[in-house]
Amino acid sequence: MLVLGIESSCDETGVALYDTAGGLLSHALHSQIAMHGEYGGVVPELASRDHIRRVLPLTREVLSRAGKDLGDIDGIAYTKGPGLAGALLVGASVAASLGFSLGKPVIGVHHLEGHLLSPLLSDPAPEFPFVALLVSGGHTQIIRVDEMGKYRLLGDTLDDAAGEAFDKTAKLLGLGYPGGAALSRLAQNGDPARFRLPRPMLNSPDFDFSFSGLKTAALTLVRAQADDDQTRADIARAFQDAIVEVLVKKSLSAVKKCGLKRLVVAGGVSANTELRRMLMSKAKGIEVFYPDLQFCTDNGAMIAFAGAMRFMAGTQHEEGFAVRARWDLFSV
Ligand code: KG4
Ligand code: ZN
Repeated sequence: MLVLGIESSCDETGVALYDTAGGLLSHALHSQIAMHGEYGGVVPELASRDHIRRVLPLTREVLSRAGKDLGDIDGIAYTKGPGLAGALLVGASVAASLGFSLGKPVIGVHHLEGHLLSPLLSDPAPEFPFVALLVSGGHTQIIRVDEMGKYRLLGDTLDDAAGEAFDKTAKLLGLGYPGGAALSRLAQNGDPARFRLPRPMLNSPDFDFSFSGLKTAALTLVRAQADDDQTRADIARAFQDAIVEVLVKKSLSAVKKCGLKRLVVAGGVSANTELRRMLMSKAKGIEVFYPDLQFCTDNGAMIAFAGAMRFMAGTQHEEGFAVRARWDLFSV
């Protein structure tokens, strides 16, 4: 079955073709980061308009790269939510129109399910069951995944998401938006011994997180000291070390508590090198899986793949077109 996947929930337009027999055939992405960078964050109206400009050219591109045409598509998957309503509507309306004109079924995919399953596009792919650490711009969750669609929330952030904390701290350090990757690069030159920031909830008996206090502690340091490049790098290092330590400790203890041996890390922050390095050194007896670097942040491949799995599992097709700007993964 050949599935066209469309992602348009936030500031990336992603399109891909996944074939249940041949794997991922092609994918293409347009990031709006440069456009929103000027405003220091995503401007929803501009995001929607840009998705409209990009989605059809990207669709043509993935079809031509795979040597396919519209008639070859057996089903269409799009990100139904959560995300920006106007942005989601672009992918939803293109998917619905294509489905209607081609006479093919359409499925609305949960964006976080796309992230969660994205490591299954890699080789070796994790087998079920596993524990997932989902760390993105909007979410920080530890989830027990028994099979596709069977998810149990084990822990969540009480305030900011990990990616959001990276982005806000990066902004304080003058690194632009979204600054997670830039902060991580700056931290490479930082002295780990110069500053120590708090590790919120590191020893709490649950799997929850809280990052707003850490961000405030970083703010205090930046205000008091950050007038030279070395100090900025040292603060970036202290911030990253703190956040990574908490993510690693909590996710590994969740795997142990569940009596499992596999951890999947997905979402934009899973691209973080220090997080991967630290997990590698601490995950004794636990196998850790990540998406390919190019599929850590938002992309069409994860939506085409999750859609294909949903089609195969017989999930109900969409009638008309619908989006859900707020949508709990655990109600899917
Ligand atoms: O998954 P994603 O593309 O979007 C959401 O669904 O939210 O994640 C984007 C987030 C941003 O906060 C970005 O700063 C962060 O992922 N990010 C990183 C890195 N690359 C992306 N954070 C830390 N280190 C990185 N290398
Ligand atoms: Zn995402």
